[in-house]
Amino acid sequence: MDRNLALDFVRATEAAAISSAYWMGKGDEKSADHAAVEAMRKAFSIIDMDGTIVIGEGERDEAPMLYIGERVGSGKGMKLDIAVDPLEGTTITARGDPNAMSVFAAAPAGTLLNAPDTYMDKLAVGRECVGAVDLDASVEENLNAVAEKLGKELEEVTVIILDRDRHKELIEDVRKCGCRIRLIRDGDIAGALAPAIEDSGVDILLGIGGAPEGVIAAVALKCLGGEVQGRLKFRNEDEKQRAKKMGITDFDKKLMMKDLVKNNEAMFAATGVTDGTILKGVQFLSDGAKTHSIVMRAKTKTVRLIEAHHKFEHLPDY
Ligand code: FBP
Repeated sequence: MDRNLALDFVRATEAAAISSAYWMGKGDEKSADHAAVEAMRKAFSIIDMDGTIVIGEGERDEAPMLYIGERVGSGKGMKLDIAVDPLEGTTITARGDPNAMSVFAAAPAGTLLNAPDTYMDKLAVGRECVGAVDLDASVEENLNAVAEKLGKELEEVTVIILDRDRHKELIEDVRKCGCRIRLIRDGDIAGALAPAIEDSGVDILLGIGGAPEGVIAAVALKCLGGEVQGRLKFRNEDEKQRAKKMGITDFDKKLMMKDLVKNNEAMFAATGVTDGTILKGVQFLSDGAKTHSIVMRAKTKTVRLIEAHHKFEHLPDY
């Protein structure tokens, strides 16, 4: 993949972040999401790539833009699988809570898992713990492994978990081990990245979240040197049929990094919408907007943090 594409991808997440940031705290999830989708879609049109959305806003019949199967880019250049979440954290943005981001991932065509819009049981860790944890092991076994690899006492290990009723038992199990918990209202892509980011204060993500978010997080962790393991969790037969259409045959398979992202050429970009653990949110200034983004390549493991100052007069009209 042309490494220069990285900056084009950041421009797309910046555009989506700025557009949706206007909706922060306004209680209107739909408008915030729509603004992000529209801005990202427009930014894609001038990027030299022959991209196909494999993870996006949903099926063609339910999403007018960035739907699964949509071709994006100028059509010139490399054939790519594109996975996007133009606004990861619609509720977060509508409330003005922390950790909403605009997120993008790309890899050579045919190399990202085409995950249906269902749930995924996930585990994510940073570089030091790769190979030491197992989705099929007990919570206690995994937390002991993390503590050992990080040279910490169990009481010092922090687990990030989506605050959901379905995680009642998981939360109890973590507490029994004596570990600390950071419960988050939404946004488990940021949650999955956190263990791989220095100073995030988080050591492992556990629990069930969106499957598309699991694949996007896997690209990010491939770049950062961490690991995601997952297993699809279907809510009904319809979701299984959708998965089948996308080429998934083993519904129960434990998905490892090689199943989620099959290529080392992957790239990941994200821009903060609201202030978060990893990225600051969009700030509006008298003459423009300031954004904070991260862009990474799996091949070289380069991590770039970009603070951009955008002048209103030069911002595209999204
Ligand atoms: P949205 O951006 O689509 O609102 O998703 C937010 C999110 O919290 C994801 O980060 C997470 O994977 C998923 O929702 C969890 O789903 P649910 O809210 O149904 O538990």
